Amino acid sequence: MTAYLNGSFMPLEEARLPVLDRGFIFGDGVYEVIPVYSRHPFRLKEHLRRLQNSLDGIRLANPHSDAEWSRLIEEIIHRNAPEDQGVYLQVTRGVAKRDHAFPAGVPPTVFLMSNPLVTPPAEQVAHGVAAITASDYRWLRCDIKSVALLANCLLRQLAADVGAAETVLIRDGFLTEASVSNVFLVKDGVLLAPPKNHLMLPGITYDVVLELAAAHRIAHQVREITELELRAADELMLTSSTKEVLAVTTLDGRPVGRGEPGPVFRELHRLYQEFKRTVMRQPAPA
Ligand code: PDD
Repeated sequence: MTAYLNGSFMPLEEARLPVLDRGFIFGDGVYEVIPVYSRHPFRLKEHLRRLQNSLDGIRLANPHSDAEWSRLIEEIIHRNAPEDQGVYLQVTRGVAKRDHAFPAGVPPTVFLMSNPLVTPPAEQVAHGVAAITASDYRWLRCDIKSVALLANCLLRQLAADVGAAETVLIRDGFLTEASVSNVFLVKDGVLLAPPKNHLMLPGITYDVVLELAAAHRIAHQVREITELELRAADELMLTSSTKEVLAVTTLDGRPVGRGEPGPVFRELHRLYQEFKRTVMRQPAPA
């Protein structure tokens, strides 16, 4: 695996950072995960726009223009073998003596790596996954894709502890998202999604799903969703760059709807796969 760190490409095992990097000391940084299909980055412009929003959210100047980011991402794709990759990029506030206030004149740390893209196996697509619920005790800027993910890790582990795939989060009686993905539900044939705000990450896949619903006349509404509605859903699904669209068929051990992936999920999953293929058919980047 070839990685990129502060201007150089190198084998991932050789990438090294000083321990005073503020990403390590404070979790003071932001990141993106960009899926790559047949060597084509998916929704790159949108990922770079969200990166800019995250950097603005933590008051860190973007070290690269979009054109520079695109070149770095193309290079990392080119230097790694898999056709389908998950490109991870991270920017931190750099290396400085430990002090909470921002250091002056310190260059940010820029890191990229690529992993083989692992999307849900056919068995999970066909039968769905189990999820549990938990109280969303994260901070109030979940719209920033921060590397400070301790709360997400603790919440995700609750699911892992019981062999479930995700932890669906409820804050003050309302659905926000899940520990590593966004959440949609279906009630009486209508696809429902919580509105983007500071309490959830604005998912790139979330946007794609809503665009597909609009383009294919699937009834949908973006509005606050109560915990009661979540528990009474006919269908429940997760979206993320790696999960794509994935049905949840049990919640806290109880079946969702009939306990199998429903018709709206199946349609959206089909449309998503078709949409992916249109990206792959574009000419390969030089
Ligand atoms: N996570 N919400 C949270 C908390 C997430 O961590 C993610 C993705 C999403 C979905 O966003 P997108 O559709 O843009 O992938 C929602 C990535 C995949 C990760 O941290 O690995």
